[in-house]
Amino acid sequence: MKLEKLKKLHLATRMVRAATDADFSRVKSHVPPIFQTVNFDYKDAEEGLAIFRGEKEGYIYSRNGNPTTDLLAQVIALLEESEAALVTASGMAAVSSVFLGLTAPGDAVVSSAAIYGGTRAFLQKHLSIHGVQTRFVDITDLDAVESAIDSHTRILYTEVVGNPNLVVADIAALVELAHRRDLFLVVDNTFTPPPLFQPLIMGADVVLHSATKYLGGHGDLLGGAIATKRRWIDPMAEIVKHYGAILSPFNAWLALRGIKTLELRVQRQCENAHALAHFLSKHPAVSRVYYPGMADHPQHDVARRQLQAFGGILAFEMKKGFEAAKRVMDSVQVCSFTTSLGEIDSLIIHPASTSHIALSVEERAAIGVTDSLIRFSVGIENLEDLQQDLDQALNEADRITP
Ligand SMILES: Cc1ncc(COP(=O)(O)O)c(C=O)c1O
Repeated sequence: MKLEKLKKLHLATRMVRAATDADFSRVKSHVPPIFQTVNFDYKDAEEGLAIFRGEKEGYIYSRNGNPTTDLLAQVIALLEESEAALVTASGMAAVSSVFLGLTAPGDAVVSSAAIYGGTRAFLQKHLSIHGVQTRFVDITDLDAVESAIDSHTRILYTEVVGNPNLVVADIAALVELAHRRDLFLVVDNTFTPPPLFQPLIMGADVVLHSATKYLGGHGDLLGGAIATKRRWIDPMAEIVKHYGAILSPFNAWLALRGIKTLELRVQRQCENAHALAHFLSKHPAVSRVYYPGMADHPQHDVARRQLQAFGGILAFEMKKGFEAAKRVMDSVQVCSFTTSLGEIDSLIIHPASTSHIALSVEERAAIGVTDSLIRFSVGIENLEDLQQDLDQALNEADRITP
């Protein structure tokens, strides 16, 4: 019904119908619109029937599909050069949909031990309930990875660069191993989004992202993405639909906007991170720096071979331990003391007193989270300002008596 016709109806009906009946079909919005709607209207009964029968393309209900979220999926497929892609409510929704979509009870997973804590908890506490057991291995030790694989193993899982010590997985070697043993190689590419790395081009089978991080880039959305072949997307899309782990159109739109500047942001973040890693390695308050771009990083050669640049995340340890690391959090002024990563702002965190507080000192040490460790997600601010901020915070921390 056109707006003109509403004049014949009562005010209450005008109020309800007016915005819904507006006709934008002749307008081409330069920026993609946000299809902030639950359902979609049909031209007539014939069209409705054809769409419900699957004979005609069209949208029914936004949990099953929405033009804004579908556009983001197409953009992700373009960036990761995949046949198809799927977007999800968060990075964890992407992780859980991949595992639930690709495994069946009795299957097993071999995973890098150096992965995001939420993913590890999902594998240990939830996927196991579905009858799928996970073995955690040092992903840089290919013999250990191979020995953990048995006849039940279906997925080999790794992050390209893993927390907290920025362990770099050799994706080419893992592709060879996974395919020789007839496994899916699933790669979390959150830390090294395109243009830094495209795991599918190297032969990985499935790539996933927490879009909350670099893809969004501004700390204002939660989202996830999966890119792979069409036939493997389908079972994952079923999981997303049935568990309701769908991305909202508004968050998809924010991610679409974020991706426009992804390359520029990441380039600046990598440059800043590389320079700060060198600066930190010479600072008297710091005992150790972890950054794949440093020659002394254990997988520096793999990182050089594999990545366009070394990423925007680094970690370092304070000579004076726990109290000194905490003092850095209290002293930074340009960087924000907060969790998450991949945002345009520099984010600093002391895992032992925050995200990993629930673990014992021994448990933390076993996964590389020492009391003195600080993780730094480098932003796009001016390098000199970041360096000065870190310098004053480190000097302040170095004044404490341990
Ligand atoms: C590497 C990695 N993968 C997945 C996730 C989960 O993403 P989200 O917080 O969007 O659910 C995170 C979150 O920090 C992460 O760092």
